[in-house]
Amino acid sequence: MSTIDTAPPDSTALQIPLARNASIDGMDAYRALVTEANQDYEAFWARLAREHLAWHRPFTKVLNDTDAPFYHWFEDGELNASYNCLDRNLINGLAEKTAIVFESDDGKLTHVTYQALYHRVCRLANALRARGVKKGDRVVIYMPMSVEGVVAMLACARIGAPHSVVFGGFSAKSLHERIVDIGACAVITADEQVRAGKTLPLKTIVDEALAMGGAAGIKTVAIYRRTGGQIPWINERDKWLHELEAAQPDTCEPEWVGAEHPLFVLYTSGSTGTPKGVQHSTGGYLLWAAATMKWTFDIKPEDVFWCTADIGWITGHTYICYGPTAVGATQVIFEGVPTYPNAGRFWEMIQRHKVSIFYTAPTAIRSLIKSADANHAVHPDSFDLSSLRLLGTVGEPINPSAWTWYARHVGGGRCPVLDTFWQTETGGHMISPLPGVTPLVPGSCTLPMPGIDAAIVDETGEEVPNGNGGVLVIRKPWPSMIRTIWGNPERFRQGYFPGELGGKLYLAGDGAIRDRDTGYFTITGRIDDVLNVSGHRLGTMEIESALAAHPLVAEAAVVGRPDETAGEAIVAFVVLKAERPSGADAKRVADELRAWVGKEIGPIAKPKDIRFGDAMPKTRSGKVVRRLLRSVAKGEVISQDTSTVENPAVISQFADAA
Ligand code: WTA
Repeated sequence: MSTIDTAPPDSTALQIPLARNASIDGMDAYRALVTEANQDYEAFWARLAREHLAWHRPFTKVLNDTDAPFYHWFEDGELNASYNCLDRNLINGLAEKTAIVFESDDGKLTHVTYQALYHRVCRLANALRARGVKKGDRVVIYMPMSVEGVVAMLACARIGAPHSVVFGGFSAKSLHERIVDIGACAVITADEQVRAGKTLPLKTIVDEALAMGGAAGIKTVAIYRRTGGQIPWINERDKWLHELEAAQPDTCEPEWVGAEHPLFVLYTSGSTGTPKGVQHSTGGYLLWAAATMKWTFDIKPEDVFWCTADIGWITGHTYICYGPTAVGATQVIFEGVPTYPNAGRFWEMIQRHKVSIFYTAPTAIRSLIKSADANHAVHPDSFDLSSLRLLGTVGEPINPSAWTWYARHVGGGRCPVLDTFWQTETGGHMISPLPGVTPLVPGSCTLPMPGIDAAIVDETGEEVPNGNGGVLVIRKPWPSMIRTIWGNPERFRQGYFPGELGGKLYLAGDGAIRDRDTGYFTITGRIDDVLNVSGHRLGTMEIESALAAHPLVAEAAVVGRPDETAGEAIVAFVVLKAERPSGADAKRVADELRAWVGKEIGPIAKPKDIRFGDAMPKTRSGKVVRRLLRSVAKGEVISQDTSTVENPAVISQFADAA
């Protein structure tokens, strides 16, 4: 494990006090855990797995690394995730505790107790079984933010059917790709989704996706009636969720599964190829969801937790569906968007629900800063946010000015800000401040979680000295790590444990640097062709393929450009089959291409800028010169050596957006 120098960092403008009586209380307690993990790694994880989870059959083996990097954790143990998230809370006397306070787009509130959540999950689990869904069968969930979304996930977990949640903003085509890749037998969706007063016809999109072929395995489409809007209907296959539930008993024997049984597969973007299905386990994943709720969020019985992510992303899996319920917490779930009916919505909701722990994305903070500056009525200072005790961020680097604003105006200078670094593949937090432990530095995710052996290495896999940048790796396997890529184990091995680094280090795909004195980590951004737009992960290749599929397009290249609000903006360089368009013509084609990408992938993938040229700048061997395109995208004066570029004259054509 890396040696951690714990000297306090340079004084920051804000002196935020550490949380008192935190679950890891003080730097010595943190160091003791790090030492425990160093001394006997397996015993450390075994202790945590016994403390944080209820096992139906206790495990006797901890880590099996004979087939590395396909690691197995607690493999002879048996458990059920929904039992841990529901039944266990009832046994512990939390039946009448509120599990979820749901706030709809238009402000209606629904309170769901653990008892009620348990019955709903059991009914739906029974219904899925009655429709023939068995252990190991895959179910796709394409749902709005809702109580029903969480019920659907936990119902799948109850019967051992791995779920694959697809973000409601993805297009029919993206949904289709995922349904086919995973070989699903059922889809759970809603008639419509409501956000910012507008509806999106989810069920119609499901029908479009299923009509694209290759999905004959889908025997059931279960539909949550959210709006009652008109939807197409196919008898036998389509069923209302409430009717399915109503016909079933409200208890359901859980399917006990081995710890390695896949709990879910979540698709995410890589630098090449189609999105990959990141497969997570039941035991190791749930252990870390529960442990990090206690360690990072210091969750206490009286807390009101609110994570603003969508269940379509990993943050929504770990810190909405599984983590909060595994520890019996009360949480807020929100259907809408931060700017509707106005940009004070988040602050108003924190005030209304007396939220004590708030977890959101830097991109949301940055856009709300702008609105608050423009209108004091939506400024956090105009609300009573005194219930807050901890703040968190996730998804992208947070710039120190946004961090400081968040700490000062939302956290009132008293709430630690937890900049949590992690990924779809890691299952839960990897590097993060702990509220009772870590002196904070804006923009730094500080120190690894106990048990997580993070390091920064050079391109040969050698650790670099503090102060030198390099690539972030995790040197030891950990329980909540990705198990494989669904249907593509070789892609998993080569992508995450590349031979160039020796084949044993988990490559996160991010650059990072450690502070010379404190050893604190700062993430400097992706080292591959993955973009991070408003915290959403997108592959440049995916967007390029979508553009290239348009009949007018001959060639396309996509890069990221730093963006004040979104973190990164998508810039597309396009060569048409016909002549390079100009003026109003260029605008028209650009709009058409944007709409096309929206339909091919989803609105989040629409390029911000589209630029046209006669040809792509390439080397003599035919490679697109991306570094040059990145500079062009930023509007930099090209001072780089362009002598290796075959056709340097085209570069200036790309300087302006259509
Ligand atoms: C980025 C989201 C800086 C990073 C949980 C990572 C971050 C990718 C942080 C994973 C952070 C996430 N600071 N960068 N605190 N958290 N990232 O899979 O580039 O959607 O590799 O998981 O987001 O995105 P993903």
